[in-house]
Amino acid sequence: MSEHVAAEMGERRKIHRAEEAPDFALESLFHDDNLEAFGDSELRAEARRIIRNNPFIQRLHRGDRDAILAHWIGFEPFVVAFGPIIDRRKMPRQILYDKFGHGPAREKLIQKARAERQLVRAENAQFPLEEMTIDERVDSLEDGTRQMGKEEIQHKGHWLADGKRLRRDYRTLERPYVQGVDELIKVVKNSPDMPFFFGLLGATEYMAEETGEFLNSSPAFRVQFEGDFSRWMRLHAPSTHKGRDFRTTHLGGDLDLARAYTPLNPDRTENVEYPKAAVLAGMKIFELATNDVEATLAPLPRKAA
Ligand SMILES: [Fe+2]
Repeated sequence: MSEHVAAEMGERRKIHRAEEAPDFALESLFHDDNLEAFGDSELRAEARRIIRNNPFIQRLHRGDRDAILAHWIGFEPFVVAFGPIIDRRKMPRQILYDKFGHGPAREKLIQKARAERQLVRAENAQFPLEEMTIDERVDSLEDGTRQMGKEEIQHKGHWLADGKRLRRDYRTLERPYVQGVDELIKVVKNSPDMPFFFGLLGATEYMAEETGEFLNSSPAFRVQFEGDFSRWMRLHAPSTHKGRDFRTTHLGGDLDLARAYTPLNPDRTENVEYPKAAVLAGMKIFELATNDVEATLAPLPRKAA
């Protein structure tokens, strides 16, 4: 047996073993210290600050029904667009081959596809689509075939189903144009490069997780939905995923690719500041979109001067 073939077989065995191992997803990461490298606690604190200080999100938290409905309708185009944007983004391989070596980089990409499937399976077991009616499942279908968008199809399904549990006629309601949300979609879609793109996906996850945590904790918010909770918010609240390794969540995967695609500095040190700036910029764009949803769809009456 040639050395090469032996190595290949060794690799295959590793993949096979890894599939059953609980820390399998960890092997899919180019770096396992992304949370430290990006300053996760600082980024999370920023997302939390934005969400919890936002007057519109606070209205949702207080159970303001008009605000909740406006938020659902306003962000729906982004939730719908998110999966296809991820699916259609071409992932250049050469950058990763050049940076990490052809074999190792290819191995990571294979592991990533498997880890993603594992994550979707675990999520579906905890938050089954069976909770949905056939109509709701049809609503959530997409023609995207790539793995990465798959879990976002499920998330979209939960968003639409929540809309109906908020108001039976949710699907027939008017959907006025919200410029801030349209801009958010365009910024993600037209990201100039991969570090920026995955940085924005990371920002999306931070905002989704912090919104989920904040709103899912509010009985006044939850009671607005049939069944007394929002599936989307519950799914995105990190506290509902006990025992999860935070390096390997959707967020962890986004940070990993944002960093992996970032070119090294001339002195070959890691340049994490660039994708980190994209994460922070993404959060800011979310904040603007949130404010615009309120201004367009659920403005509070002006106080008399
Ligand atoms: Fe999601």
